[in-house]
Amino acid sequence: MALKKKTIKKKSVKKKKAIKQSAASTDKSILDQIIRVDHAGEYGATRIYDGQIAIFGKNSKIGKTIQHMADQEQEHIEKFNELIIEKRVRPTALLPLWNMTGFALGAGTALMGEKAAMACTVAVEKVIGEHYREQQELLEDDEKELRKTIAKFEKDELEHHNIGLEHGAEKALGYKVMTKVIEIGCKTAIAISKKI
Ligand SMILES: [Fe+2]
Ligand SMILES: [Fe+2]
Repeated sequence: MALKKKTIKKKSVKKKKAIKQSAASTDKSILDQIIRVDHAGEYGATRIYDGQIAIFGKNSKIGKTIQHMADQEQEHIEKFNELIIEKRVRPTALLPLWNMTGFALGAGTALMGEKAAMACTVAVEKVIGEHYREQQELLEDDEKELRKTIAKFEKDELEHHNIGLEHGAEKALGYKVMTKVIEIGCKTAIAISKKI
């Protein structure tokens, strides 16, 4: 009799666990941070490519390649503009800063030449791509749609990263130092934009 009781108890614990797992929901503060930082990052990305196109011109060969990436960044920022409203998330207070630094980074690397501009893309997209991969693991099943969106964007960022490599990024003068500095800058911007 005692044994039977024990078995029933075990079963009910299992059942409770299953209910808890199926109802897993994403922590609201984590969700807010994800949307805030992605919105900031995509905004920064559009500004980087704006800066590069301002230097190379839309109709140059490299300008057209950059425009393709810029168009995808535009789709990404529009999606996060919607999500900011839909999920009632406060955007980062630092948008004006990312506006200026993004443009300056894009224009500055473009002034150093096509390969340097592509090295900038490689560094930025590597950080954003990795960041998107990590975020998918933080989202529970109640945010399946967002997880799908982020997975799609991760694929786009990886494509941008590869476009940079295909266009001679690694041949840019000081490639290793430059990409390291930009990567650290991006990671710092991510850490700040999650909170502020
Ligand atoms: Fe993007
Ligand atoms: Fe990108």
